[in-house]
Amino acid sequence: MIKQERMKVVAQQSIARHIFELTVEGGLVDEMAEPGQFVHVRVADSFEPLLRRPISVASIDKENNRFTMIYRAEGRGTQILADKKAGDEIDVLGPLGHGFPVEQAEKKAFLIGGGIGVPPLYELAKQLNSRGIETVHILGFESKQAIFYEEQFKALGDTHIATVDGSHGTEGFVTHILNELPHDFDTYFSCGPTAMLEAVQWAYPQKKGFLSYEQRMGCGIGACFACVCRTTKSETDYIKVCSDGPVFPAGVVIS
Ligand code: FES
Repeated sequence: MIKQERMKVVAQQSIARHIFELTVEGGLVDEMAEPGQFVHVRVADSFEPLLRRPISVASIDKENNRFTMIYRAEGRGTQILADKKAGDEIDVLGPLGHGFPVEQAEKKAFLIGGGIGVPPLYELAKQLNSRGIETVHILGFESKQAIFYEEQFKALGDTHIATVDGSHGTEGFVTHILNELPHDFDTYFSCGPTAMLEAVQWAYPQKKGFLSYEQRMGCGIGACFACVCRTTKSETDYIKVCSDGPVFPAGVVIS
């Protein structure tokens, strides 16, 4: 069930260039289940900036009623959010959308992420590992300064990093790593820029795959049509990324 709650900030820190990790506490965590869902955060109590910001859930801690989000502070709204400190409160709406279907993985899964698409893969990797699924993580970043959670992913399985400028790991994009790896997995899950999702689908046309789309959003709950995409179902058919997704099976969204 979707809830709106003023949640308590437990911790906030900068973990890479322009990237922040924010942990909050409250009853809304009870409603969280699928990795890949997101929340809509109202960054300020004043009317400006008015809109909420969609932020993906990076980690869920049911025992302590906490969850962690990772976001890039680039616009005015997320800059305001980056100033929140332990003890402050923020207005959170969620959990929203449909996440990754963990039950679809059989034995081994590839988790492929780019930039700010990487965070939801962390909770996904935790849940797959707890089900006995082997996970391999292929993660792309702009540069060494932009990398986060490398050690956390390594603790859960094989982890390969690509950077566009070659300052860490493989130089180039995640697809350069995919070309080198054996296709010995049954399911892939991916989150990141649309061009990356397209390339991943092309790389594995025969595999079962699930893709999480980063779309510009307004309401986050299916009411405003800001996030509409066409689908392969018919010429006129469309889906809303916020409420029908953000995760879709490979081949469904026309980007
Ligand atoms: Fe409003 Fe999706 S963001 S319908």
